[in-house]
Amino acid sequence: MLLTDIERAHIRRTWRLVEQAALLETATKIFYDDLFATHPEYRDQFPKDLSGQITKLAKTLDFAVKSLDWDSGDWQGGAVERNSDLFYILTAMGRRHQRLYRVTNDQYGPVGASLLTALDLGLGQAFTPEVKTAWTKLYGLIAQTMQLGAVMRTPEDRAKAIQGATS
Ligand code: HEM
Repeated sequence: MLLTDIERAHIRRTWRLVEQAALLETATKIFYDDLFATHPEYRDQFPKDLSGQITKLAKTLDFAVKSLDWDSGDWQGGAVERNSDLFYILTAMGRRHQRLYRVTNDQYGPVGASLLTALDLGLGQAFTPEVKTAWTKLYGLIAQTMQLGAVMRTPEDRAKAIQGATS
């Protein structure tokens, strides 16, 4: 399920559109409105004041677009080099999501769906079926890597486990 060159180009082009047309504020609003309308039970996990969220959504999408430059082999777990920054950033982000924000694996689907809704309504006609497929694949890869991070043990976890076993 890796992205083709054409799919990468679709994502880069539509992300530029979002940035240039100052669509981010609208897209952020659509994203949260849709997420909390379809899943009101998620509301309490997020801060009361959502005004800082535009930056977070922008960071997330920007990050997703940057990840396109990652070597495709890197997405395939075992082949990851120790210096693959993106892999460590994503797995750490997945761990924060699980441990700090209490995010469960089943929440990645609805969040992805609301993100696609926001891109669809924000981009209008530019959101063709091909563009949708490309963003869906990219979100899937990022979500999978974050979920992997949530179950990976950190060096600190291992140290604690050893301490626990010997004390
Ligand atoms: C591909 C999937 C996702 C990406 C790229 C992403 C990205 C981010 C980023 C960049 C932050 C800022 C803080 C940080 O880096 O730790 C954040 C915070 C947060 N995310 Fe996610 N997220 C994703 C999925 C989810 C899911 C599935 C949920 C579940 C409802 C979620 C809920 C939250 C919450 C509650 C926060 C902290 C509150 C806040 O300050 O907004 N995220 N996310």
